[in-house]
Amino acid sequence: AYTATPFVPEGADLAHVREAATGCRGCPLHEAATQTVFGAGNTHARVLLIGEQPGDQEDRQGKPFVGPAGRVLTRALDEAGIDPDDTYITNAVKHFKFEYVPERGKRRIHKAPSLREMTACKPWLDAEVRLVDPDVLVALGATAGKALLGSSFRVTKQRGILLPYEERGECLVATIHPSAVLRADDRDAVYEGLVSDLRIAARVLG
Ligand code: URA
Ligand code: SF4
Repeated sequence: AYTATPFVPEGADLAHVREAATGCRGCPLHEAATQTVFGAGNTHARVLLIGEQPGDQEDRQGKPFVGPAGRVLTRALDEAGIDPDDTYITNAVKHFKFEYVPERGKRRIHKAPSLREMTACKPWLDAEVRLVDPDVLVALGATAGKALLGSSFRVTKQRGILLPYEERGECLVATIHPSAVLRADDRDAVYEGLVSDLRIAARVLG
């Protein structure tokens, strides 16, 4: 099976884990992508946010959520009262998965990661959760929710409520992926839903 496990150094701090992730070959996604996009932000943050996988901009720049979805997220966090300096942000899968479609020319079109790829990449996410040790995890969208809570996770049913995250007693709040706001016809309503879910996470911080 595909797995990142042999690439994850044991007993290392987050800086060393991040360094090791640059050479991960745990699944085939590293072949076409530009680079590993590891998490970024405050390594002692109380809020750990998890997206799906890097997009086109993130793949080029090597940092999570630097594209359009990141701009939506930054604004929503601010509105929910979550200090960006108190966050660490990462993705369930660390390499960009894409395809070319004839109608779109040279554009690289995002493709959802498979369960196998999510499972392969999970050891990196587990290491981030363990080493950042946040008070609350925020799963942004279905992929992050499934990666953290298992494949029966349903974002429509489980968003916006405090869920236990078994690993070490933190809690977890799931919400939609910020890119869903960009795709929606009723952007304002979808955006307000994102903000109100993030407020549930903010409440944990007191
Ligand atoms: N979408 C994600 O899920 N992650 C990113 O880093 C950017 C866009
Ligand atoms: Fe490794 Fe994850 Fe990249 Fe696959 S997607 S090669 S498991 S870092």
